[in-house]
Amino acid sequence: MSEVQRPAGTVASVMTEERMFPPPAEFSARARIGSLEDYRRLYDAAKNDPEGFWGERAAALPWTTPYTKVLDWHPPAAKWFVGGRLNASAACLDRHLAAGKGEKTALVWVGEPTGERREYTYRQLHAEVCRVAAGLRKLGIKPGEVVSIYMPMTPELVIAMLACARIGAVHSVIFGGFSSEAIADRNQDAGAVAVITADGGWRRGSSLPLKKNVDIAVEKSPTVRHVVVLKRTGQAVEMVAGRDIWWHDLIEGMPTDTAPEPMDSEAPLFILYTSGSTGKPKGIKHTTAGYVLWAQTTSEWVFDLRDDDLFWCTADCGWITGHSYVTYGPLAAGASLLIYEGAPNAPHEGRFWEIIEAEKPTIFYTAPTAIRSFMKWGMEHIEGRDLSSLRLLGTVGEGINPEAWIWYHEVIGGKRCPIVDTWWQTETGGIMMSPLPGCTPTKPGSCTLPLPGVVPEIVDAAGAPVTPGHGGWLVMTQPWPGMLRGIWGDDERFVETYWSKVPGKYLAGDNARQDKDGYYWIMGRIDDVLNVAGHRLSTIEIESALVSHPSVAEAAAVGRPHDVKGEAVAVFVTLRGGVPTDGLKDALRKHVRQQIGALAAPDDIHFAATLPKTRSGKIMRRLLRDIAAGRETVGDTTTLEDYTVLATLRGNDE
Ligand code: WT7
Repeated sequence: MSEVQRPAGTVASVMTEERMFPPPAEFSARARIGSLEDYRRLYDAAKNDPEGFWGERAAALPWTTPYTKVLDWHPPAAKWFVGGRLNASAACLDRHLAAGKGEKTALVWVGEPTGERREYTYRQLHAEVCRVAAGLRKLGIKPGEVVSIYMPMTPELVIAMLACARIGAVHSVIFGGFSSEAIADRNQDAGAVAVITADGGWRRGSSLPLKKNVDIAVEKSPTVRHVVVLKRTGQAVEMVAGRDIWWHDLIEGMPTDTAPEPMDSEAPLFILYTSGSTGKPKGIKHTTAGYVLWAQTTSEWVFDLRDDDLFWCTADCGWITGHSYVTYGPLAAGASLLIYEGAPNAPHEGRFWEIIEAEKPTIFYTAPTAIRSFMKWGMEHIEGRDLSSLRLLGTVGEGINPEAWIWYHEVIGGKRCPIVDTWWQTETGGIMMSPLPGCTPTKPGSCTLPLPGVVPEIVDAAGAPVTPGHGGWLVMTQPWPGMLRGIWGDDERFVETYWSKVPGKYLAGDNARQDKDGYYWIMGRIDDVLNVAGHRLSTIEIESALVSHPSVAEAAAVGRPHDVKGEAVAVFVTLRGGVPTDGLKDALRKHVRQQIGALAAPDDIHFAATLPKTRSGKIMRRLLRDIAAGRETVGDTTTLEDYTVLATLRGNDE
């Protein structure tokens, strides 16, 4: 295999896990899918007759024009529900009002500053979305135009997404932790015509300068005509006349019954940028009908949503998890959502448990990196808290180590809650592999089995299925409604990245293996992508940021194991001259923070005279990964151009 392949040894502990946890009988008794036979029946139906299966499920969507064909599949181009028209915000709101559920709680929001709390019924949420939609229409934003959203995790973020959807505008949510450079890149790539932001956002008691970042970005975003600003923190901001408008002024006097724009099934609903193995983030494109159906159906299956549930997904809407399991999935399913604005340790490390005690969510969905932080912060923040409202737990973003799984099960779940370890990606639109909590026996560290409609295969580099028990590339052999429809503005890269290495199949970019029970175990990425705290970062993006600093000649970024974040960013840097100083390390960290955002700031910086390269000049990251992790180099070094480089690098280790 190529040099960028992760050594299989990094998942060794996971691979020896033998424990099995059957779903509790009382959970299964009430579950939507309560037995493996039911699961298999659904699975086989979806596999053998995808059109019949999905056609049946799509019937409940609020079509304004019926579709003529369920699926039109010319790999890699999929069209689901061809010719149909509907509106995603109507699927999340209007249809529940029509069904008499207007007074049901749609959203409970807890602010980071203690004591701040708001609640919206479906009727109230619908009204707010309508007002913002009308305001955006009045600004002249047209169906198909792109609106960037750069906001803190407030109800208005969800409202902004749905308001865009309502007028047929394509939203591109940019995580509030990203820098002005990152906003400018995304505005330019998408041709965004407007940005919706806030004056600032709370993060651990201090405020982030969101509007200021947007101001800098918009100077470099010639397509942006309008900036809408929510007053959140009350900090001073500059308002540019003719361009900027306050959110409260935008919605002043606007109607609460704005008609939804009927959109084609395949009209883009949103773009979400994610890191790939090149320097430029990819704008992953999702469309309307298939995406909403996938988000809703997977929410119902995996979280077993019932009418009396309160669902807390801790993800920010800046990530795909916040799109599919905060906004679209649970709302399309008519569920009640809980969202929290701030950090889990603000103002103290027991904040989540305090919120659970007060709000009584029944389902809690978070990331392994958060769970490892909770473990580290200690039992004193949890003991004495009443977590008995919880009936189901979930994880997403990276594999969960069995130790954290067991801790989650025992301490947070009180041994009574099933855990759903959900494998999926920005590209897949929704969960692909996961236990169904009422029927799938779980094994700590495995995402278990594919959902109905998902047909995975594990193949070698020649595209041939590997023998069971062996690792290989994870591919999908059939289309599914929530799949990405392209990379914004770059069809070639779409084909190249996902569809060319194993022709006709979707290449997920992860290694995986199947065990004797057919369970899937994800073994990490096959490309140069790091997974830091459950978020994908491209090594090349970090390297490009570093070499744009005047002192840096060359840089290589790799991941090393980190007990909380999963992976930490380690960089190896050669300088243009001069002596490395501690001041320079701080300067480089700050530089990456400015270029990309705090998530990408390197944890370790190693200065080196040269980097290990192959004779053809490729940096041997595999060796750097070993050094960064403090491991002996086990792999083949015969292609290394200069052996002394390794010894020198080890000598430089700090
Ligand atoms: C990559 C996708 C899906 C939303 C959050 C991340 C890794 C994700 C799991 C899991 C093992 C996982 C994969 C995947 N990943 N969930 N349950 N077990 N690995 O979305 O940023 O698009 O990243 O995250 O490597 O390819 P993303």
